[in-house]
Amino acid sequence: MNATRNTGKPLPAGFENRYGRFTGDGPEYVITDPRTPRPWVNVIATPRLGLVVSQTGSGFTWIDNSQLGVITRWQQDLTQDASGKFLYLRDAETGTVWSVSPAPVWPAYARFACRHALGSTTFETEFDGIATRWTVFCHPDETVEMWRVELVNLGDRPRHLEACAYLEWNCGVAPSPRREFTRLFLETAFDPARGAVFAASHMWEVGSKRFGHWNTDFPYVAALACTERPDTAQGDKLGFTGRYGDLRAPQALAGGVWAPDFGRHGDAIAALRTPVALAPRATHALGYALVVAESRTRAEALLDRNTSVAAIDAALDATHAGWRHRLAAHRVRTPEPTLDILANDWIRYQAISSRIWGRCGYYQQSGAYGYRDQLQDSQLWLTIEPERCRAQIALHAAHQFADGSVVHWWHPLSEQGHVTTMTDDLLWLAFVAASYLRETGRFEILQDRAPFLDDAEPRSLFDHIMRAFQRVFRRTSPRGLPYIGAGDWNDGLSAVGLEERGESVWLAEFLAGLLADWCVICTRSGRAEVAAEFAERRRALVAAINEHGWDGGWYLRATLDDGSLLGSASNSRGRIFLNPQIWAVLADVAPPERAARCMAAVKEHLVTEAGALLLAPAFDAPVAEIGYITRYAPGLRENGGVYTHAATWSIAAACKARDAELVGRLLTAINPALKDPDRYWAEPYVLPGNVDGPASPHHGRAGWTWYTGSAAWLHRVVSEWVLGVRPEWDGMRFDPCLPPQWAHAEMTRPYRGATVHVVIERDAALPERSPVRVSLDGVDQPGTVIAPPAVAGGRHEVLVRCR
Ligand code: GLC
Repeated sequence: MNATRNTGKPLPAGFENRYGRFTGDGPEYVITDPRTPRPWVNVIATPRLGLVVSQTGSGFTWIDNSQLGVITRWQQDLTQDASGKFLYLRDAETGTVWSVSPAPVWPAYARFACRHALGSTTFETEFDGIATRWTVFCHPDETVEMWRVELVNLGDRPRHLEACAYLEWNCGVAPSPRREFTRLFLETAFDPARGAVFAASHMWEVGSKRFGHWNTDFPYVAALACTERPDTAQGDKLGFTGRYGDLRAPQALAGGVWAPDFGRHGDAIAALRTPVALAPRATHALGYALVVAESRTRAEALLDRNTSVAAIDAALDATHAGWRHRLAAHRVRTPEPTLDILANDWIRYQAISSRIWGRCGYYQQSGAYGYRDQLQDSQLWLTIEPERCRAQIALHAAHQFADGSVVHWWHPLSEQGHVTTMTDDLLWLAFVAASYLRETGRFEILQDRAPFLDDAEPRSLFDHIMRAFQRVFRRTSPRGLPYIGAGDWNDGLSAVGLEERGESVWLAEFLAGLLADWCVICTRSGRAEVAAEFAERRRALVAAINEHGWDGGWYLRATLDDGSLLGSASNSRGRIFLNPQIWAVLADVAPPERAARCMAAVKEHLVTEAGALLLAPAFDAPVAEIGYITRYAPGLRENGGVYTHAATWSIAAACKARDAELVGRLLTAINPALKDPDRYWAEPYVLPGNVDGPASPHHGRAGWTWYTGSAAWLHRVVSEWVLGVRPEWDGMRFDPCLPPQWAHAEMTRPYRGATVHVVIERDAALPERSPVRVSLDGVDQPGTVIAPPAVAGGRHEVLVRCR
């Protein structure tokens, strides 16, 4: 896990910037200047409880759903970033007040560090002769957020401090546009025996199958307690801040007696004041537990188990050990140390914590499952815990209708979903199931049973997937191309095919790739007739794409309902789109000459130093017939920005096209750790959703970090395409396409019960363009694929020599 150990060499210059650095002693990023260009956050989630915390200390907590089950209040204002749960200190003798994270007081610290790690964030500050370490994290198994606090008296006189924890209860849907309305239903209570503040809400503005009409209680009770008995507490915000007061200098911290106000008539908060006496040079540890449970009794039990420094310490150790263990079996080592740190630790943590478990980022508080999104993300589990991917497949299968269609997204808890006429969502079930099968060979997954949303009878996964295919086949134009409906992968192409006449070239390519996979799956599972039908469909589809989808210099994106072209040289905006070029290569749709031409067009029109643009030129005025993509400011997100999800696919396509120079450029372009933060703005340790394109005055500025499908994909692309260790139908293929400046790379990963250690080396003695040479456990292999039986069990050494 050690960055220095990972790479075998010291961290190079450029590995740090003016705001912070990777520490090199574990997957940790330390921020030393809190005034980062945007909030640099950590999304710390477990399968149920989650929190986001930024380097200012702002952020919030949720349970089960980061939008419907928000426990503590937060305002999404990324410019101020001053809203959240805070810990104050007050010197009881002098009255000096400060916060142990920059927000809300912004003290002039003698020392500051914010350490974002996998599963925890720690603030280390020094102020007024007191050093503080404040660590926030989630218990790995219980729905408890924990704070560990360590105070050190650096001076020679005894100190009498008060620690004051503060948060605002939300207990329901957030953001709430009707705060005064929701306030009417909140209730707080002080439990003197436990020194805890409880909160619940008598109203939950969510109608759902499970909970009925929205005239219901919020189904959780929350509570905050300190490991030491508070001497006073407060449940009402006005009682804490004072009239028109402010969190930077709350009236309650001006000293004196608090007037506790709990019940149903205040503005619900929890504030706990705990006296701490510190002898000269003494250290003192305390902690807080923020628990969430289905009932008051269970919340009390959680408090009783977890409100001690020993319990908090044990949970913190378990959290870090859990992440180390989870990520340990699959590691890469390349000549680019920042890529190793990202690929081994940060982007996998990003995918699991933010995308799969938390479904939350600072720029998007979602909570929902995107039908295509978390399915794709779940592929991250394939090498380490493939059954988690299988469970995700089952969950999504159960969100399909009997006619094959699916919900575009749905909310766990409420089961409310969004039905659209997007035409690709349903096919991702087939895509991810094929990935699972290539990796594991466990064909029994096809018999896994799940109900439909509108038919409770459980049906096999194979049946679910066939219904998805059949629906897409039914929605095909007379020219043999699938309709685009209200969008395909690209949500912003929301009006291209509303009348079911517009066609999608990208979707046709995606489908063609799937049909090839499902020919194999059907053949191997004894369904020769379906395999033959799919082979014929693929042949016809590839012919239709090449007949109607080729624009002359590249592939079109789509046709509109009125038959006009999108992504054509004849367009002044949106002349060329990335996805149809790279998927023509990835899905083996383009004949070699066209593959070369469309990749050349990508290089000429789309590749920038910030990555490959999703389209160019950007739309600069709304086009009602295309969709909301044209309403984004030019260069933002899908409208001509680098959309990193697709940008990762472009790296795979460059590998497949064997353009090593392009692979190197694109890998550098997408690497957040190599950016100038004053231009790039976003966190250096995780991927952003998008980077502004050239039509924006801020070309190169990143945003929408954490909550992006690119994290899981970049990991896969690095493993399977750049290092080229790729599970295929007949076994593991070794097919690296290293950037030209790389001489060496390594990977360890599990494969069907074995551990495979792969060393990739350049061998100048190999003839130009020669295929790679593979040896297994010292024995030269005839080809580049090793069949599973050859690596059954144990550890195997593979040496791959490439030119
Ligand atoms: C968003 C959506 C994702 C979509 C992408 C491109 O990230 O969640 O499903 O593919 O945008 O529009």
